[in-house]
Amino acid sequence: MKGLKFISTGRAIPEKAVTNDDMSRIVDTSDEWIRTRTGIAQRHFCTRENAASLAVSAARQALERAGISPEEIGVCAAATVTPQYASPANACLIQAALGLAEDTPCFDLSAGCTGFLYGLEVMRGMLTISPKRYALLVGGEELSRVMDMTDRSTCVLFGDGAGAAVLALEENALWAATLGTRGNSDILSVDAVGKGPSYIHMDGQGVYRFAVEVIPHCAKELLNQTGLTLEQVDWIVPHQANRRIVETAAKRLHLGMDKFFLNIDRYGNTSAASIPIALDEMVQEGLLRKGQKVMAIAFGAGLTWGGALFEW
Ligand code: ACO
Repeated sequence: MKGLKFISTGRAIPEKAVTNDDMSRIVDTSDEWIRTRTGIAQRHFCTRENAASLAVSAARQALERAGISPEEIGVCAAATVTPQYASPANACLIQAALGLAEDTPCFDLSAGCTGFLYGLEVMRGMLTISPKRYALLVGGEELSRVMDMTDRSTCVLFGDGAGAAVLALEENALWAATLGTRGNSDILSVDAVGKGPSYIHMDGQGVYRFAVEVIPHCAKELLNQTGLTLEQVDWIVPHQANRRIVETAAKRLHLGMDKFFLNIDRYGNTSAASIPIALDEMVQEGLLRKGQKVMAIAFGAGLTWGGALFEW
C-alpha cells in the first residue's frame, strides 16, 4: 500500500501573545481557573496578521524547507473553519502567493478541528491521480475573529495560528487512517458568515465526553489496521483542545503522558492548525526523528474525528 510521507513542515504564529491574566481583564476569569481546567497559559491573537497571511507564511516555510519548486506541487488544500473569505478558498490565496502552477487544484476543507487529518486522507487520494509528486496541506485558523469576547466559557480556550506540510506518496510507507462523523450541530458550531456576528458555540461537557470516547477509539482502530502495539508507537500527537481531555484519554489507554506531545499551554486550541503546529514544533525541537512512529488524533465540530498512524 502507498502511504504518505511528510517531506517538511512549517508554521506561523501571530506575534501577539495573550496571557490568561490578559483574558481576565476582558472577562470574569482567572489564570488559575484556565490553567487547572484546560492547561492553557497563553494563546496568540492576530493583530497585523490574518487567516490568509498565516496560511501563506506556514505554507511558504514548508515549501522552502522541502527544497522543491512551486511547480512540483500537484495539489494544495487548506483545512480551516475561519477562511479569509467564504470564497475564494485560502488555498487559492496560497496558490497566488507561492506561485503554484495553474493546473494545481486548490481548495479548502471544513472538518472542524479534525480538518488536518481529513486533509491527509484527501491528499493521499488526490496524489494517486496527480501527475506530480507532492501535496501541500495547511491547517490554519483566525479563531479570534469568531470568539464571543463576552462568553468566558469559550473565549479563553482558542487561539490563532497555522501549520503546513509538504507530503509525498511512497510505496510501502507505513500508513493507517480512520475518519468518522456523528452529524451534530448542538455540541459545537461556528455561525455562518453574513448573518450578523459569527461566534463559536460550545457545550463544553458534551465536547469533553465526545473527545474522551473517540481518542481511544481512533488509537485502537489504527493499531488494529497496522498490527502495532501502543508500545511500538513513539509519539501520540493529539488535537490540542484541553490537557484534561488528553490525560483522561491516556488513562483509558492505560498509558502515561510521556508519549503525548502537548503545547496547549502556549497556543490554546488552534482548531485545524493544532496538529501541524505540533508536528512542526516537534521537528524543530529535535523531538521527532526519522523512523519514529507517530499517531495523530483529532476531534472537532461535525462532530468529526480522525486519526493517522505513520512513520516520520
Ligand atoms: N473562568 C471562570 N469560570 C468559568 C469560566 C472561565 N473562563 N468558564 C466557565 N466558568 C464557570 C461557569 O460559569 C460555571 O460556573 P457556575 O458553576 O457558577 O455556573 C463553572 O465555571 C463550571 O462550568 P462548566 O462549563 O461546568 O465547567 P467545566 O468544569 O465543564 O469546564 C471546560 C469547562 C473547560 C470548557 C470543560 O467543559 C472542557 O474541558 N470541555 C471540553 C471542551 C473543549 O476542550 N473545547 C475545545 C474546543 S472544541 C474542540 O476543539 C473540538
